[in-house]
Amino acid sequence: MVTESLTITDNRTGKSYEIPIHYGTYPDYGAAINALELRQIKASEEDFGLLTYDSGFTNTASCRSSITFLDGEKGILRYRGYPIEQLAEKSSYLETAYLLLYGELPDSAQLLEWVHDITYHTIIHENIKKFMDGFHHDAHPMGMLIGTVGAMSTFYPDAKNIHDVDSRQKQVRRLIAKMPSLAAFAYRHSRGLPYAYPDNELSYTGNFLNMLWKTTEVSYEPDPILERALDVLFILHADHEQNCSASAMRCVGSSHPDPYSATAAAAAALYGPLHGGANEAVLRMLEQIGSVERVPEFLEAVKSGGGNRLMGFGHRVYKNYDPRAKIIKELADEVFSVTGVNPLLDIALELERIALEDDYFVSRKLYPNVDFYSGLIYQAMGFPVGMFPVLFAIPRTVGWLAQWQELLLDPDQKITRPRQVYCGSDERDYVSMDNRQ
Ligand code: ACO
Repeated sequence: MVTESLTITDNRTGKSYEIPIHYGTYPDYGAAINALELRQIKASEEDFGLLTYDSGFTNTASCRSSITFLDGEKGILRYRGYPIEQLAEKSSYLETAYLLLYGELPDSAQLLEWVHDITYHTIIHENIKKFMDGFHHDAHPMGMLIGTVGAMSTFYPDAKNIHDVDSRQKQVRRLIAKMPSLAAFAYRHSRGLPYAYPDNELSYTGNFLNMLWKTTEVSYEPDPILERALDVLFILHADHEQNCSASAMRCVGSSHPDPYSATAAAAAALYGPLHGGANEAVLRMLEQIGSVERVPEFLEAVKSGGGNRLMGFGHRVYKNYDPRAKIIKELADEVFSVTGVNPLLDIALELERIALEDDYFVSRKLYPNVDFYSGLIYQAMGFPVGMFPVLFAIPRTVGWLAQWQELLLDPDQKITRPRQVYCGSDERDYVSMDNRQ
């Protein structure tokens, strides 16, 4: 006997159906019906049954997940129940990565072992270096990253054993450890600089800065403020539930390839300007606006349509201030105290000030998202804009892997294969060339 249910009456037939309602952790957030229940609703015997139409998955849950919770109306983001604000203040990226993957914060022995494992997997095979050498001198670093992560699948054939727990854990460690190395090598290739090898004495982000910026010094010493700022940025970017790239990871992962192939697909999804490529697009937009005086004119152009968007504003889920954007805005001051203020900051502040008072943006609930200020920080730290999506992909790798792992362990999960509502021609006979109009 179903106690909580939905009664649907099909007005074509007059028949009624009772469909159970399922709940997650919060009864008022995420109540759902099983879409397959609708298939029993048929207008006739031959009818295939009712489908749901939801392009862009705006109201469809594709999985049950225990990793990340976000409430876009209230501006809440939690990893495994822990508020993002507390993690950004008190945790480290690698500790947060452990939490996302294994569900609990590590004790000190677990953390020590985890950090050691990641640190000792940072070196990449010399042939991967040769592979990277093959890219054009002006190849986009994100394109290089996507290609090289995919290529790693051929270096680790054992990664195909996705149902073997030990093998899975090994690939997880390899991917988290090697992403910064690949990213730094991509950067140095694009600059024509010799590659710098990892330094196991440094932290995860300290070592990344070392591989990027080391020149002739015996050992590189990262600036502690920038090292910590990057660590916080990595925490903020570590996961964001079923976004476009996580869904790509799950979609590709559902056909059971190795995780390097699935991660390459997720990174490709992240590359687009509507997703992780937005931080790069924000910087290009700020440079194009050029001065505070030109902000009103730019916003008018956005409002009049024609394809222009205020990049770094708006979010599919957040209809309130993105909590990550708040933390990043505060972080910017700390970074600028070391690097000097990014001259584009004034344009960004003016854009935000006007947009938050303008009915066009207010009525559509468009607020700054994570990408609005992160690019300004990255640029002040010395990163070229092409590296911005790469800086997103490094920390998001753990989110993708946590989602992938959850997918593999969930007996409900099947190969992703959506339905369609066919709107094309009915059956017709082939027309020979001389009879075509
Ligand atoms: N600038 C101007 N108008 C916007 C913007 C924007 N940034 N975002 C949405 N709108 C408008 C749309 O034109 C639409 O207006 P309409 O109702 O008059 O047609 C309305 O707001 C709703 O927009 P949708 O595109 O339907 O919203 P959706 O949820 O599909 O899109 C998205 C979300 C893609 C993030 C969108 O807000 C956008 O393009 N933002 C700019 C790119 C960006 O910053 N992306 C990063 C997202 S965060 C991340 O991925 C890490």
